[in-house]
Amino acid sequence: MSDIIIDVQNVSKSYGGVKANTEVSMQVQRGGITGLIGPNGSGKTTLFNSIVGYHPIDSGSIRFEGQEISKLPVQKIARLGLLRTFQQTRIYGAMNGVENMLISLPHRKMSLLDALKKNTKEDYERADQLLDFVGLYEKRMLKSGDLSFGQQKLLEFAMALMNEPTCLLLDEPTAGINPTLINGLIDRLKRPTKNLALPYSSSNTTCA
Ligand SMILES: Nc1ncnc2c1ncn2[C@@H]1O[C@H](COP(=O)(O)OP(=O)(O)OP(=O)(O)O)[C@@H](O)[C@H]1O
Ligand SMILES: [Mg+2]
Repeated sequence: MSDIIIDVQNVSKSYGGVKANTEVSMQVQRGGITGLIGPNGSGKTTLFNSIVGYHPIDSGSIRFEGQEISKLPVQKIARLGLLRTFQQTRIYGAMNGVENMLISLPHRKMSLLDALKKNTKEDYERADQLLDFVGLYEKRMLKSGDLSFGQQKLLEFAMALMNEPTCLLLDEPTAGINPTLINGLIDRLKRPTKNLALPYSSSNTTCA
């Protein structure tokens, strides 16, 4: 098995006349955390969107575990085990933490039958374990919209882990979080990386 899990080569992407990425190359090692640093507007979110298939590239190559994925649709890429979190969190504020965890499951198990299947006891157990892992077990029955922004980021991280990704792209996981909480978050980000590659983007060089 190669040590390189994501291999981006000479990727370019424009939105109309706006060149978001020009000839970008980057490699992500398996089993570690890779940082992607750049000022605002330098194309980090666009690159993540391109890697997971939301914004198909104009030219270049993106390989995941050796397989060319740049022309695959989002769900196919997700099913390969490559997922992302969003710069703006995407949790359902009216639902509690456990419910948010459970609705995040079909992103990986995308067949209609799977999506319609009732959640199993194991799904609930896994949701509780991951909520505990990110420090939200006590708050799991609270409306997620009432959690602090930092806690919502942690919930989103746990939701992504629910899908057992091989590689998880974290877009600005520490943006908007009180600096005193950032170390705790980074510590948690490091813990699941034994078998998980975690590239994260940041315009804040202090947390690189
Ligand atoms: N959907 C879009 N349509 C048109 N232009 C876009 C779109 N998304 C991004 N851009 C432009 O592409 C460039 C790169 O933006 P992107 O959001 O990828 O940067 P970023 O590095 O993630 O910035 P930030 O640090 O502010 O999150 C910017 O000039 C932006 O205005
Ligand atoms: Mg961005």
